[in-house]
Amino acid sequence: MAEFEVRAVEAETVRPLRRALLRPHQEVEELVYAGDDHSEALHVGGFRHSRMVGIATIMPRPMPGRPERAAWQVRGMAVDHGHRGYGLGGLLLKACLEHAAAHGGRLAWCNARAGSFGFYERYGFRRDGDPFELPEIGPHYRMFILLESPHSKAAAPSPSRE
Ligand SMILES: CC(C)(COP(=O)(O)OP(=O)(O)OC[C@H]1O[C@@H](n2cnc3c(N)ncnc32)[C@H](O)[C@@H]1OP(=O)(O)O)[C@@H](O)C(=O)NCCC(=O)NCCS
Repeated sequence: MAEFEVRAVEAETVRPLRRALLRPHQEVEELVYAGDDHSEALHVGGFRHSRMVGIATIMPRPMPGRPERAAWQVRGMAVDHGHRGYGLGGLLLKACLEHAAAHGGRLAWCNARAGSFGFYERYGFRRDGDPFELPEIGPHYRMFILLESPHSKAAAPSPSRE
């Protein structure tokens, strides 16, 4: 596996890669997501040889239809084309889930692009409801995973081998 460093970064730092890898039809200034500036939000960068090649964000945000659990949303998850398939996405996701669990999160959810459905499923996320279309991006699935308290067991699950 390639060696990556994953560390917290400022929200402004992830926006250029958000644009390049996820929303090239938008301007960097438009890539401020609701909740980016939440005091408990985590933005993580994945670095290889000091260059940021992956990003992810997690922030407290209720999951539609499941108000009963303290929920956090994973957003802006992306790995540079040349660095996919070496485990960085998994490291970024794990860092996000651990952060949420450590801050009282009991559920994490995301709107997964159809093409990344298998990635989230691999890490134990389950699908919730029917697919839906996001304009200019395409079909998505809402997915979620329940989080354990860090005081009970491992906060973030390992990849599922089912
Ligand atoms: C989804 C993404 C972040 C995954 O990053 P990555 O660094 O390639 O992921 P990893 O190498 O950590 O993969 C972890 C596991 O998930 C699997 N996986 C990764 N991407 C997958 C996909 N698109 N579909 C199915 N499985 C996938 C890998 O095979 C791997 O499984 P393994 O351990 O059994 O080999 C990356 O492909 C990406 O940036 N895609 C484009 C942007 C995107 O769709 N982001 C998500 C927005 S919701």
